[in-house]
Amino acid sequence: MTHDLLIHGGRLILRDGDREADLLIREGKVASIGEDLEVSPDCPRLDASGHWVFPGLIDPQVHFREPGLEHKEDLASGSLACVAGGVTAFCEMPNTTPPTTDPAALQDKFERAAGRASADHAFFLGGTAENAEAIGEWESLPGCAGIKVFMGSSTGNLLIEDDPTLERLLRSGKRRVTVHSEDNPRLSERYAGITEGTSVIEHPTVRDVECALKATRRLLNLVEATGRPVHLLHVSTGDEMQMVLERDLGDLVTVEATPNHLFLAAPECYEVHGTWAQMNPPVRDVHHQDALRRALVEGPVTCIGSDHAPHTPEEKAKPYPHSPSGIAGTQTILPLLLTAVRDGWLSPQDIVRLSVDGPRRVYGIENKGALDVGCDGDVTLVDPSVTEDLPSDWLRSRAGRSPFEGTALAGWPVTTVLRGQIVYHQHELVGVPTGQPLTFTS
Ligand code: DOR
Repeated sequence: MTHDLLIHGGRLILRDGDREADLLIREGKVASIGEDLEVSPDCPRLDASGHWVFPGLIDPQVHFREPGLEHKEDLASGSLACVAGGVTAFCEMPNTTPPTTDPAALQDKFERAAGRASADHAFFLGGTAENAEAIGEWESLPGCAGIKVFMGSSTGNLLIEDDPTLERLLRSGKRRVTVHSEDNPRLSERYAGITEGTSVIEHPTVRDVECALKATRRLLNLVEATGRPVHLLHVSTGDEMQMVLERDLGDLVTVEATPNHLFLAAPECYEVHGTWAQMNPPVRDVHHQDALRRALVEGPVTCIGSDHAPHTPEEKAKPYPHSPSGIAGTQTILPLLLTAVRDGWLSPQDIVRLSVDGPRRVYGIENKGALDVGCDGDVTLVDPSVTEDLPSDWLRSRAGRSPFEGTALAGWPVTTVLRGQIVYHQHELVGVPTGQPLTFTS
């Protein structure tokens, strides 16, 4: 089935500026941009008057929990949250049950996604001591986003905590390795020191700045030694941003920031939301938040990923530290970034740079782009007149709760188009899920 669509009358958010123009998608690809484009009378049309036309976002870090943890989320519900938030492609993490650590587990995820994923998708392979050599052969399997390493333990049991094992993995394969950078030996010491009754407010002290800094320092040393490119996930400290700038390893190191660290701050987030604001690495104080916001514009942040990591209310109700870490967030990336545009610290072009071009460049994703002619016709229409407080019943993740409920909005993605087909409109899925595996340049 081919998909043509004329999106007319909207304000296109392009890489180098905004433009009032029509956008024509032919056979699922962006075909042309211009004023009053002529099309045949039977070409489907989408009236975008009064709307902003953004390229579909890419969320390069989500945990959709399937297989094994479907009580928290699955590929259908997680990808529904994606398209409900204007996200048309996602890269999913390997800490499922079982973890995605070999080609059979990877293949299983693609089979599960077929006909159930509403957005285009790729899956990561998880690095372990056992697969540290073989994984270099598997990283370029079709649809594989690359290798993910947990240097510090978080949800699940994936972990590489020592430098010799990490170095073996870095020397096997060539694609960019994606890393959760917290130092596990230090984390173990600090968790051992937690006393009965410790509150979640202490989470940024338990998993302190030094846990993150120490791991990132170790990792950058290994990057220098091996020449292997890495991507630092969900960086939570201004200190690490500074370290990346000072070490100046160029394109060998790319950096992700999450909306959670950019739009929440300690201690208020824990006082107000309790364990619903608990994630790894932790949301820290306003000084780190300010440094991360600056790093979006001045460097070194390359992209934004949600680290969508849902858990159930029952799980989140456990007393700290038994409450699991993770916040659902793929659906709120764009709405939150729109509030930053309203508040003057980001531009619409920053959104395109950080949420489309950034992830595309970090992972070498093919066919996706910032409304470039020839790229997939992935679009999200934002209604800027939606300025109410975010109601919980608009959210689609199975987590059922977000610390961003009640946020005063500055626009909302009302219609999402995937390869020329309207897939989500006015809070409803349209048709059956048609997400396809992503392809990569390397
Ligand atoms: O808070 C987190 N939750 N951080 C991670 O790295 C993993 C994630 C999860 O899977 O729950």
